Order: sequence, then structure tokens, then C-alpha cells
Amino acid sequence: MKFETIAIAHRGASALVTLNRPDKLNAMSLMMKEELIRALHDLDADAKTRVIVLTGAGQKAFTAGADIQEFAGRTPTDQWHMYEHGTLYDAIERAGKPIIAMINGYCFGGGLELAMACDIRVASDRATLGQTEINIGIIPGGGGSQRLPRLVGLGNALRLTLTGDRIDATEAMRIGLVDEVVPHARLEQRAFEIAEKIGTRSALAVRLAKQAVRASARLPLDQGLRYEQGLFALAMGSEDKEEGVRAFLAKRDPVWKDR
Ligand code: COA
Repeated sequence: MKFETIAIAHRGASALVTLNRPDKLNAMSLMMKEELIRALHDLDADAKTRVIVLTGAGQKAFTAGADIQEFAGRTPTDQWHMYEHGTLYDAIERAGKPIIAMINGYCFGGGLELAMACDIRVASDRATLGQTEINIGIIPGGGGSQRLPRLVGLGNALRLTLTGDRIDATEAMRIGLVDEVVPHARLEQRAFEIAEKIGTRSALAVRLAKQAVRASARLPLDQGLRYEQGLFALAMGSEDKEEGVRAFLAKRDPVWKDR
């Protein structure tokens, strides 16, 4: 896989995907979004990769959002075609494997939307977050108006979206926008601790669990419960279920086949 705007490194069963334009605070150009979609698609299909961690290059930014330069001159038709093509945010949510946002600094606008599309958010105590589109006269277009209230509630979502204010990691943690805050020096260690633990589980069970929990954001409760039951019934037919039960009863560690 050859990329210009991102970098990929493999560490054990995890893949680290780095947004790599540090001189532009990792602002997401259209090329970067396309490369990310391609990389996530390939890593999702790669049998050796069990968990994906997403971060930004350099000491300052996760990503300062969409590349604002590319907004100049963009027409409604251009924008519509981009949506028809399928968005990065949808690709993250649809990926079978878990994706962890390792938020190492500025996380604004489309960058916050990127983090919110991920499955788990771990932030450095130096991170600053904001739904800042209003500051340049637009609104969130990568899912922010829908995912933010689901994470932090209507009031906090409206406050952040209408003011464009930036908040620190502690405040983000308090309102549920990130799941953990750790000292900057420990960020990578903690993100990979989580990734590696997930990597020791049955990859099939992990996929089913992600799909089930993710469905809670788009289905009414009765349909979500039915959906969970369908996936649970599917899990009952897996070799890993038989192995997991046998291992528990024999008081030994399970050996997963991921099927
Ligand atoms: N798109 C394109 N370029 C961006 C960018 C973005 N979203 N965010 C930062 N950059 C570029 C700057 O233009 C600058 O480029 P230059 O050196 O060629 O002039 C470089 O990244 C460094 O940014 P700078 O503003 O000098 O850094 P700073 O530390 O003073 O400020 C921010 C950092 C994040 C507060 C500021 O860059 C900012 O407000 N960025 C926009 C954030 C935003 O609203 N994003 C949502 C977009 S919808």
C-alpha cells in the first residue's frame, strides 16, 4: 500500500494509521480522506490486523479538521458527488474491525467527526477538541450534528456546535466526548493496551459485538433488541463459542479460530 498523506505501521496484531501532514496540523485533504478509506478497507480485509488505531503525526494535532483551503470554490454539486461516493466517516463505522481514535492534540471540526465515528476515543491530557465549523460560516457535514448529541446530549452538542468553542480533554471526558484521558507520554501505551486486549478476543465475536452496539445508535429499542438477538443466535453457531465454553469448563485459555 503506497500513500502520500498517511502512514501505516503494524505492531503485533494492531495497525497504527497516522494522518501525516504535520505542517498543516494533519488537516484532511480530499486525497487524505481517499487514502484513509482505501487503507481502512485493506486493513479490514487483512487477516493479521485485528484492531486499527488512528492518530495524527507530530506533537500538536490529531487533525485540525477538513482542509479549509479546499472549501474555497467548492459547489453544492461537488459536495453532493462526494457524499454519493461514500464518506470516510461511514467507512469507519462500517468497518468490521474496531477502530480506536488516539487523540494526541488538536481535534477540530471534521477531526472531531473522525474521532466520533471511531469506536473508542482515548485522549492525551494535552488534547483540545471542538465542533468548530461555525467559526468559518458552515455547519458539521461529516456526521457531527448527529453523532455529537448521541455522545454528549442535546444541550452540550448545541453549545459546542453553536459557539464553536474548544474544550480541553478533561471537559471532553466529563461530558462523554472521549472515553479516557491519559498523560501525553502514556497515550500510545494506553491506546495499544486497549487494542491488544481486544486483539486477544475472538475476532468473530468482536465483529458481532461492534455491529450490535453500533446498531443502538440507528435503531429504535425494539428493533435493536431483535437485531442483537439475531447476532447472538449467529454467535451460538460459531466454532469460537464451542471453544470458549470448552476452555471455560476445562479452566484453560481459549484458542480462537475467529469463525
Ligand atoms: N485546513 C487547512 N489548513 C490548516 C487547517 C485546516 N483545517 N488548520 C491548520 N491549518 C494550517 C494553517 O493554515 C497553517 O498553515 P501555514 O503554516 O501554511 O500557514 C498550519 O496549518 C499551522 O496552523 P496555525 O494556524 O499556524 O497553527 P496554530 O497553532 O496557531 O493554530 C489552530 C492551530 C488549530 C487553532 C488553527 O490552525 C485553526 O483554527 N485551524 C482551523 C481549525 C478548524 O476550524 N477546523 C475545522 C474546519 S471545518
